[in-house]
Amino acid sequence: MPSQGQKVPVKLAGGSYDIVVEPGLLASVGTVLRSLSGAKKAALVTDDQVKPRHTPTVIKSLEAAGFEVVVAVIPAGEAHKTLADVLPIYDRLLAAGIERNTPVLSVGGGVVTDMGGFVAANILRGVPLVQIPTTLFAMVDASIGGKTGVDHAVGKNLIGAFYQPMAVLIDPQTLQTLPPRQLRSGLAECIKHCLIRDAGGFEAFEKKMAAIKALDPAALTDLIAANVAIKARVVEADPFEKGERAHLNFGHTFGHAIESVSQFQYAHGEAIALGMAAAAYTSQKLGMIDVTARDRIKAMLGSADLPTDGLKLPTDRVFDAMQFDKKVKAGRIRLVLLEGIGKATVRDDVPPALMREAIDSLR
Ligand SMILES: NC(=O)c1ccc[n+]([C@@H]2O[C@H](COP(=O)([O-])OP(=O)(O)OC[C@H]3O[C@@H](n4cnc5c(N)ncnc54)[C@H](O)[C@@H]3O)[C@@H](O)[C@H]2O)c1
Ligand SMILES: [Zn+2]
Repeated sequence: MPSQGQKVPVKLAGGSYDIVVEPGLLASVGTVLRSLSGAKKAALVTDDQVKPRHTPTVIKSLEAAGFEVVVAVIPAGEAHKTLADVLPIYDRLLAAGIERNTPVLSVGGGVVTDMGGFVAANILRGVPLVQIPTTLFAMVDASIGGKTGVDHAVGKNLIGAFYQPMAVLIDPQTLQTLPPRQLRSGLAECIKHCLIRDAGGFEAFEKKMAAIKALDPAALTDLIAANVAIKARVVEADPFEKGERAHLNFGHTFGHAIESVSQFQYAHGEAIALGMAAAAYTSQKLGMIDVTARDRIKAMLGSADLPTDGLKLPTDRVFDAMQFDKKVKAGRIRLVLLEGIGKATVRDDVPPALMREAIDSLR
């Protein structure tokens, strides 16, 4: 592997695999896959936005490595993350005669990695999966951890399976074509990862923010590798989301409520940034972190061009929406809070008045 690449191993009871982060990696997907698979065919799942931008390089590389490539394209966007949109993928792959050893490669954002992963988990009762995420959000979050699935009219991600890939291949250069708002959304999750687990990473991130926003390949590679390592460590410790994986919800109880009350006017990362600001406020008022730490968190979110104030939604509505969050157990809201930068904890004893005050603090 060229020196600018980084490899993060993931060790799970059911098997281990590597996450490779390397600028230009799309052009080597065929070689990497050939080292893992003797299959004749490779099935590529992508969406209609990513297809023209990034699949020609992948297909060329797969063909050069001797794979016969089958491509299934879904319409881009969360609205198409449904079972109905999965059916044509089955049709395409089965008509092309894929076999039990045919790897499915998802090339796209989190919608594509969730759907490609879901197809790989059940077509022919399971075929190998390679995740090739092309949004920062999918690189550091959606493609890591083995959660796959689709939405249902009743709610998001209600149909799915835990299914681990045999590799995750990340080319930071694909972010060059990503709209800035999508990049910011991914930065919010990166800030979250550092806040719950990695004080040193937070400091490094503060120093590199300008280079990251300028899409400097080395800075992006460091950022992505550090973040997949954090998510991978949390997933290794709790593969089926029974305990500490809950820390990944830092900022998300407030954030999901803001996202839904705003009727998705806020992008996920923007809502989560506001949620992290509210969680930092709550942590400080409970004496768990000091004002300096809280100011540092707000400054970091601001430097990523993410919001920490300006909220115009009624506090009551946001607070009410928090009751519907999946973290509510036995009627108590369980909040992920900070005991310091890099250290998260779950609390179910936060006074409702303080949660309202935290929402008010976002105005
Ligand atoms: N499995 C998990 O653990 C997990 C975790 C978090 C989120 N998710 C899921 O991830 C999804 C959100 O992911 P997302 O934000 O990546 O959304 P997305 O897949 O919808 O991608 C956002 C948009 O960017 C486009 N795009 C993707 N890569 C591009 C590129 N390099 N250049 C230009 N355009 C590009 C896509 O076509 C799409 O229009 C949600 O469905 C969510 O449920 C899953
Ligand atoms: Zn999130």
